[in-house]
Amino acid sequence: MVFSGMQPSGDLHLGNLLGALRPWVLDQDRYRNYFCVVDLHALSGPHDPRELAEKTRQVAALYIAAGIDPGVSTLLVQSHVPQHTELAWLLSCVTPVGWLERMTQFKDKSRRRGAERISSGLLTYPVLMAADILLYRANFVPVGEDQRQHLELTRSVARRFNRLYGEVLVLPRPRIGRRGGGARVMALDDPESKMSKSAQGEAGRIGLLDPPERVRAKVMRAKTDSGRAVDLESAGAGVANLLDIYRALTGCSREQLARQFQGQGYGHLKAAVAEVTVATLLPLQARYRELLGDRGELDRVLAEGDRRAQQVAAANLSEIRAAVGLLRPPATS
Ligand code: TRP
Repeated sequence: MVFSGMQPSGDLHLGNLLGALRPWVLDQDRYRNYFCVVDLHALSGPHDPRELAEKTRQVAALYIAAGIDPGVSTLLVQSHVPQHTELAWLLSCVTPVGWLERMTQFKDKSRRRGAERISSGLLTYPVLMAADILLYRANFVPVGEDQRQHLELTRSVARRFNRLYGEVLVLPRPRIGRRGGGARVMALDDPESKMSKSAQGEAGRIGLLDPPERVRAKVMRAKTDSGRAVDLESAGAGVANLLDIYRALTGCSREQLARQFQGQGYGHLKAAVAEVTVATLLPLQARYRELLGDRGELDRVLAEGDRRAQQVAAANLSEIRAAVGLLRPPATS
């Protein structure tokens, strides 16, 4: 069983495709999968209420356009399955505040904005994430390196819960970064940092919906090393990133990469990266537009995923409720 999700905030980019969506798709037939648009998590920071619903649809459409088959995998919207928030409460009651205060993502954000300006939802964010995962008894959670600490917390919470109430929860195993099959894509304008949805400037990320001219312009302006010719052995962060992107998009071997680029100028590498990126994104964008063009159909697909998820969630949650000792609701006929 696999569970993973993305927030409907910011614009999805090539890093999300190569680091997450692609590996999800590749493993799709090997496991039962739940892929979630985690809209409730998007509420923990500033968000625009006029845009959230539309972004949620867009991310769901991008999942499908990237190759997730809603007939094979269960695609759900987090807020449509109320068991997520209920389990989050049950888990928060066994999660020490100290654990949450020690999370680096929380520390960074609260330091930047100050305790009076951040929500308590930002503190309990990892508990909701743990609930997402534990609700489905997921064994694997394919995510990026930045989520490692959240997964460790999920395991600690589950372990503690099981110690108190019996072996009810399944401890998930992380599948992180490259080990989960994903590539780590760095920002084009700052190859020491990860390509990010939230970074100020757009120059660092290739949006999944960027038109070909914009993709080409961004790649051609990508930061490289001070040298002139590609050397696979001593490539700096910028050139290495372009080589990694090329390799991830084409699936070529290191030998092929060397044959094609070793000793060549950076312009040649950039032009090649731009072309394979455009070639990957064009069909994805066409499928995306088709999906958003028929909202009725997209909504039906989402409703079916929500329904399947709710069935599993309700059955698992009722065991968890019983384990902590809550009175079973009387059966109504
Ligand atoms: N915190 C994750 C992120 O920002 C999103 C997320 C929420 C998630 N719940 C999850 C990822 C459950 C995997 C499993 O990327």
